[in-house]
Amino acid sequence: MTISESLKFAAAKLNAGCIDIPHLEAEILLSKTLKKSREFILTHGERKLAKFQIANYKLLIKKRLKRIPVAYLTNEKEFYGLKFKVNKSVLIPRPETELIVEEALTLATHCSQPATRNPQLATRNSQLATRNSLLVAHNPQPVTLIDVGTGSGCIIIALAKQLLTRHKIQNIKYKLFGIDISKKALIVAKQNAKIHNVNKKIKFIIGNLLEPIINNPKYKIQNTKYIILANLPYLTQTQIKNSPTIKHEPNLALSGGKNGLRLYKKLFEQINYLIQKYKIHDSLFILCEFDPRQTGKIKQLIKRELPGANCQIKKDLFGLNRLVIIKIPSV
Ligand SMILES: C[S@@+](CC[C@H](N)C(=O)[O-])C[C@H]1O[C@@H](n2cnc3c(N)ncnc32)[C@H](O)[C@@H]1O
Repeated sequence: MTISESLKFAAAKLNAGCIDIPHLEAEILLSKTLKKSREFILTHGERKLAKFQIANYKLLIKKRLKRIPVAYLTNEKEFYGLKFKVNKSVLIPRPETELIVEEALTLATHCSQPATRNPQLATRNSQLATRNSLLVAHNPQPVTLIDVGTGSGCIIIALAKQLLTRHKIQNIKYKLFGIDISKKALIVAKQNAKIHNVNKKIKFIIGNLLEPIINNPKYKIQNTKYIILANLPYLTQTQIKNSPTIKHEPNLALSGGKNGLRLYKKLFEQINYLIQKYKIHDSLFILCEFDPRQTGKIKQLIKRELPGANCQIKKDLFGLNRLVIIKIPSV
């Protein structure tokens, strides 16, 4: 069988199995089988495949027909312009999650600006900082970013790459953490950090939400702005059951309990405890990704668990409510 014939055969099978973009997926999976680029495949249609290659390709097609996501078959997924290693222990990074990276970048730049008592100057500083991240700040403030439920590490690694290259000139001190309850997920996150050369910049910790930070005096909160990022499991069991495409991903990365917000409730309780313990005010931002259908419920939860906090809802690239930015007000 030649490359062209194999592609035709696979695309027909995928099409019959109601896979949305059969030709593209046939190419991606052949590229994985032959360890060659898609460009190579498309320009070497006459090349014959070895028997073992045909067998491997057919196996991948068979798995795809069982609705195993392409990213788990190729073991990679692109996120924020970077390639991430993925396997069945981690959630496949979603394009809509790039929003949390975008917003955290703006906030991190804003937070690192020195505090000023002149409100006009403060507004001007933050506008400039947002527009031009290369702005040289005098006395930049240290910023700590904590990615809770880091999974493949895609959020904190994408941020590390951006912050450390964009802001090198400002000499801002960033402390970066990735926390996950899954040991297997943390193995993948650490591998990804190494691939992207930020392994020495991010501390990955195993634990239940913010518990490792709360309970370890080593990470005592002081003299730093905090940005907590969370794309925690937020689906209900019914939503998971009704979606054939996501049921191959780890339940630990998907299930948010009965109403989808169990883990966010726990996280906000922990944050409340942190606020009381360290008297944190005006130096803490929390960014949470959620299901658009939960907009009302998450707002209510924030009102209940973090009284007085300011909330701003942001829409994703599909125009759906996807992110809430919570700011703890000054006293
Ligand atoms: C929806 S996935 C997000 C993964 C990654 N941050 C992303 O955006 O692609 C949620 C992650 O939270 C982790 N997780 C679930 N419960 C947790 C808990 N109690 N504490 C810390 N992490 C938890 C899961 O293991 C999973 O990796």
